[in-house]
Amino acid sequence: MGARYAIAVNSGTAALQLAYQEFLKPGDEIIVPDFTFPATASMAIAAGASPVLADVAPVSCTLDPASVEKVITHRTRAIAPVHLYGQPADTAGLARLARKHRLRIIWDAAQAHGAISNGRDIGSLPDVACFSFYPTKNLTTGEGGMLTTSNKALAAQLRLARSHGESSRYLHTRLGYNYRMTDIAAAIGIGQLRKLPAFLRARRRNAAILSKGLAGIPGLVLPQTPGGDRHAYCLYTVCVNSRVLGISRDELQESLAAQGIESSVHYPRALHQQPIFRHLGADRDFPVSTSLALSVLSLPVHPALSNDDLQRIIRAVREAVGA
Ligand SMILES: Cc1ncc(COP(=O)(O)O)c(C=O)c1O
Repeated sequence: MGARYAIAVNSGTAALQLAYQEFLKPGDEIIVPDFTFPATASMAIAAGASPVLADVAPVSCTLDPASVEKVITHRTRAIAPVHLYGQPADTAGLARLARKHRLRIIWDAAQAHGAISNGRDIGSLPDVACFSFYPTKNLTTGEGGMLTTSNKALAAQLRLARSHGESSRYLHTRLGYNYRMTDIAAAIGIGQLRKLPAFLRARRRNAAILSKGLAGIPGLVLPQTPGGDRHAYCLYTVCVNSRVLGISRDELQESLAAQGIESSVHYPRALHQQPIFRHLGADRDFPVSTSLALSVLSLPVHPALSNDDLQRIIRAVREAVGA
């Protein structure tokens, strides 16, 4: 990843909680995207802080720096951008903002093993990146996670917090947990790490085939990655503009299912639409994330797909939309 230190833990959720606890105290605010998996926000609450929602940018579906700037207050201490689907967030824009307002950045890299932003591995960016090794991710240990950082003091604190604050045998010098990765999971992870380059090549090849085959369909927005960035394609997610396309996202999904092709929605609700986070979005609008929740659809992109599988997916989408 290009980072000096890597701290293995037993989930991506644990990685986020540990990182948040290092930088946040009760009353502090952390800005998180409204369009993400709930752990990005809920672990801030678990760490005693207050998540504040900001909207995402269209197309990239990642945290929009302009939307972040609008909700910065004197209590804001950090931001938690998500490299959603494996698409690098606007790392330069967000880092500029963080420098200007003296904010920490905890990158939620749960879906982004291998993603590159402006030529840099997203795991090497300060302050810390949090990965998940859940089975749907680009690298799995069954359940597991990891933090990567080049900050030595931070790495030492994260190691302590992972295992009951035990600085030497039965000497407990700070509050900690049991968030250790098991040796069995680590053994799987070492094997997976060797395969990761081949997995990433296959995911990127599959994505390129899908993008070529689905190009030029009005109303179907395909993933787009700016020059200098490389998408890790944990998910290949398209956006359905139902007015232009003539069918809704759900109709497209049903049509694919009828042909035996599984697709999924990441995510059907923005965070402000989730019962546990509804209070965070009161009196505010999140036009982009609200529209994404109705329009995103993830098509199969995993490394085991054959060329025939990919052509079948492309045909099925084209048939469903009449293109
Ligand atoms: C964006 C994001 N953040 C955090 C997590 C939490 O990771 P884990 O399931 O390993 O706890 C996930 C997992 O799905 C995720 O997609």
